[in-house]
Amino acid sequence: MNIFKSNAYNLLFFLPFMFFCYKTSHAAVRRSIDTSASYALLTDDRLPTDILPQSYEIHLEPNYEQGTFSGHVKINLVWKSDTNKIALHAHFDLNINHKKILVQMLNKNNSDLQLHKNITVQRGSRFPKKTIYIVYLTEIIKQGSECVLEIPFEGYIWESAEGLFKGSYSNLTYLATYLRPNNARRLFPCFDEPRFKVPFTVSITRSRHLITIFNTPVARTSEHSILKDHVIDHFEQTPPMSTFTFGFVTSALFKLKDDLKTARNSTDPVINFWSFQDRTNQLKHIYKKTLLAYKTIQNYFGIPVPISKIDVVVIPELPIVRPVDNWGLLLFKESVITQNRYYDIAQELIYQWIGSWVTPEWWTDDHLNKALASFLASETVIKLDGGVEFNGKYPMTTLYSLYYEFSKRYPHSRITAMKQETISYKTELVIRMLNFTLGKDTLQKGLKKFIEDYQYKTFVGDDLWSALTSQALKDGTLKSQYRLTDIVGTWLAYQRLPVITVHRDYETNTATIQQKVYLRERPHDVPDQDKMLWWIPIIINQQDTLNFSNSSPYVWMEKTRQININNMPGNDKFIIINQEEIGPFPVNYDEENWKMLSAFLQTEIGRTVVPTYTRAKLLHDAWNLAYAGDLSFATAFNMTLFMKFERNHIIWNPVFTFIDQIGRRIDMSEVHKKFEEYVLALLTPLYEELGAEIETEDNWKKDLRSLTKRFLCRSGFRPCIKEAKDAYKVWLNMATPNLENPVPNHYICPVFKWGSTDEWQFGLERVIQFPKTRIQSERTYLLKTLAGCSTQSEKIYRLLELSIFEEHSNFTENDQFLIFSSLTGSSSGYYTLFNFLSEYWTPIRQKFKNNTNLWDHLIGSATGFFLTQKGYDMVKELYEKHSGDFGSAQHIIEKSLRNIREETLWSKENLPVIETWLNNFLSKN
Ligand SMILES: *[C@@H]1O[C@H](CO)[C@@H](O)[C@H](O)[C@H]1NC(C)=O
Ligand SMILES: *[C@@H]1O[C@H](CO)[C@@H](O)[C@H](O)[C@H]1NC(C)=O
Ligand SMILES: *[C@@H]1O[C@H](CO)[C@@H](O)[C@H](O)[C@H]1NC(C)=O
Ligand SMILES: *[C@@H]1O[C@H](CO)[C@@H](O)[C@H](O)[C@H]1NC(C)=O
Ligand SMILES: *[C@@H]1O[C@H](CO)[C@@H](O)[C@H](O)[C@H]1NC(C)=O
Ligand SMILES: *[C@@H]1O[C@H](CO)[C@@H](O)[C@H](O)[C@H]1NC(C)=O
Ligand SMILES: *[C@@H]1O[C@H](CO)[C@@H](O)[C@H](O)[C@H]1NC(C)=O
Repeated sequence: MNIFKSNAYNLLFFLPFMFFCYKTSHAAVRRSIDTSASYALLTDDRLPTDILPQSYEIHLEPNYEQGTFSGHVKINLVWKSDTNKIALHAHFDLNINHKKILVQMLNKNNSDLQLHKNITVQRGSRFPKKTIYIVYLTEIIKQGSECVLEIPFEGYIWESAEGLFKGSYSNLTYLATYLRPNNARRLFPCFDEPRFKVPFTVSITRSRHLITIFNTPVARTSEHSILKDHVIDHFEQTPPMSTFTFGFVTSALFKLKDDLKTARNSTDPVINFWSFQDRTNQLKHIYKKTLLAYKTIQNYFGIPVPISKIDVVVIPELPIVRPVDNWGLLLFKESVITQNRYYDIAQELIYQWIGSWVTPEWWTDDHLNKALASFLASETVIKLDGGVEFNGKYPMTTLYSLYYEFSKRYPHSRITAMKQETISYKTELVIRMLNFTLGKDTLQKGLKKFIEDYQYKTFVGDDLWSALTSQALKDGTLKSQYRLTDIVGTWLAYQRLPVITVHRDYETNTATIQQKVYLRERPHDVPDQDKMLWWIPIIINQQDTLNFSNSSPYVWMEKTRQININNMPGNDKFIIINQEEIGPFPVNYDEENWKMLSAFLQTEIGRTVVPTYTRAKLLHDAWNLAYAGDLSFATAFNMTLFMKFERNHIIWNPVFTFIDQIGRRIDMSEVHKKFEEYVLALLTPLYEELGAEIETEDNWKKDLRSLTKRFLCRSGFRPCIKEAKDAYKVWLNMATPNLENPVPNHYICPVFKWGSTDEWQFGLERVIQFPKTRIQSERTYLLKTLAGCSTQSEKIYRLLELSIFEEHSNFTENDQFLIFSSLTGSSSGYYTLFNFLSEYWTPIRQKFKNNTNLWDHLIGSATGFFLTQKGYDMVKELYEKHSGDFGSAQHIIEKSLRNIREETLWSKENLPVIETWLNNFLSKN
């Protein structure tokens, strides 16, 4: 049922790593061809390990005006096996003259490690198409030897955030680095993989009046021997660290006045804020929050990060969405940090421990690191403000969108970057599941131990799960034969989630629990679904012993299809499994249990005792299971009855999604009118109780009111329609209506839907006469609503005639695309489009002969959205009548026919049930 978009989805997925870059050789705009669209796409060019770096000494000298830099690197190397080849990373952009490379062997017998002898470099060359540079020596160096490799180099300063880049903001300029994931090789030749963690001793030239901030503090500053207005900062040696976490920024920076003298242990790092101008007023809140977040995180890990300072630099036009997290130096886009959220800052601070200190072995493990950091950032927010910052929605927003995505026939069919994000979100929810099933103490202690064991090292996923397993076994929160690698493995293995079904036997007080792949979109014909099995924690609450704070599993489903459990209560008591969405999976019950749940939630005591996320879950699961065909709609509708009394926005939010989905799904049937009456009955009391807007009220209340109103309007709520028409009248009466539109957007659709033909016609004229000088998106909105909101076919005919057949009518091809798409939003729309197509087949076919895109889109829109037998018959008739004349759209109409057949099954099964329930409901209300 791909026609339904989940509105939760759009809120979530932004694409932080998508930059678009162009290759120009050495021209003015320096951008390069590499993109970091997704770490997982990085090629696996790993370096050999026969020579390992021990430390770096680096000098860098940027030339801002020329957009170049020069530098010099000395790397101490140790030979792990005999070889005469040194392989390291250097980007194509980095110019290296192999004649200037120097290799000197260290004399280990001498206690001051004096340079012993020069080794002649035969040549240096690049690996074809790879960013690997190889230095060939004239002699083979023996295992155990140590040498110093010296390479002078030159490179470019970019304008996109890769390697060293420059940027400006009003009259200020800056230089900064972004070396994630593998761009250190653009800045200096190096062993550019996370596992090579060694100390760096760095010096950087700057103009005298600027400031450079690096990973470590400045140890001393010296004069530049040639450039009189320049100086050189020599920084303290860094702790052993990976190349990607190297970073610096140079600009005229202003340090935030620290008048918040916080008590601090001498081992804790100092935290400084920097900005381009004095922004003390804008930044002092987030500064305070940063100090608090740091303290909270340090307390969680029980150990400070081994660096003496963390500088936070705020840059207005930083060309990256995600903050740059170097060790000891964070760069934030101003618009991100001034949102004043604990979450943003906490996440970056957590990367100082997990990321910089303890580091994923390879970029494919990065999603795990990210998931852990997000989870701990959420934990920090909840600790500091009780989750207010999340509007109480953590982790529901994420979870619901994963439920939608993973239950599709083809998850992530569109964008790979999104796939990476989703994998990371899922991993975060699995960590959350461990937080509850193993307990928060076990998780915390396990993570502490993990940091202890992997500090200055890299880890793979199994290392983390083993550390947590050991802790859980020690704490007795996991059975001795269980391993988290196995448990977590099943959750990470598939792009799917499970659903469990509980059948209680009320005679024997037992229950069977079965698991299967959760599929919502039909048909449920996903290959290999029988092979997918999960380790699932079964956390049970029984009505007579409700205790929602106990989250240890009664039993784990050990990757088995079915288990039986005993000691269930009698037939007058319900059970709830997976309260508070502890595990990311929906739960289905037998009808009796659902009935008891529905009845309980309709009592006041029920709504008080059952916590918010659990109430939301019961409702959300019931609807989605019904939608998927796994539960009767009568049960799902029964689960909405308690909404009459429910006033918590967290529970209302998913309800709007259902109204939207079901509303569209049954839009073509007789049942739809009754459904709208049901919606009115459901929402009117809520709307009335919310009352008029008050300036000072919470955001959630504003949002809830506006959503309620929007849905009421759609269902024909009289006061709303009157309001909309009154607002529209202002426009009707204007002397120059083409010059502006005074009607708020949300009133336009109700007027086109419920208003008169004259009102609609007036809107159409405004589109036709829309001046080229006005913002065109306003015209687009108007056109979209004209097509999508009107339900009378004569209006739609008028619009189609005008846009398709009328010469010089000001309608473009894009407009035609838009009109067809908008008509697919409602049954009256696509019915009319279909009829129009059938009636004017010949002239339309002629008209679109040369435009297969538009033709295909028209056929798809006019035939692809029917859901019933009647629709199927209509499309089939058209198909046969014009057999052979569909051209490029032949396969499109055939696909439509297949889809409608599937949807028809759904309608046959569910519409009568829905109708009966609604009849019953309306007769009582
Ligand atoms: C090695 O070469 C460097 C630079 O050419 C030179 O300064 C140095 O004296 C040489 N060292 C030895 C031990 O020959
Ligand atoms: C930059 O502009 C600001 C005002 O916008 C001014 O106060 C400042 O002196 C200027 N700085 C330079 C270096 O010109
Ligand atoms: C400093 O560290 C000690 C021991 O680790 C701790 O007891 C104390 O509370 C810390 N002080 C502050 C101000 O954090
Ligand atoms: C982890 O579990 C504890 C209760 O055991 C809970 O208070 C905390 O909010 C959980 N953390 C997250 C981020 O869900
Ligand atoms: C729905 O609730 C009504 C009464 O509230 C009940 O009579 C009916 O059996 C329930 N239907 C289902 C399928 O649970
Ligand atoms: C097309 O738009 C212009 C304004 O941009 C308007 O003056 C003209 O009348 C329109 N054409 C038609 C056929 O309405
Ligand atoms: C379609 O294209 C052909 C050749 O490009 C042209 O001769 C013909 O007039 C076009 N037909 C229409 C309806 O635009």
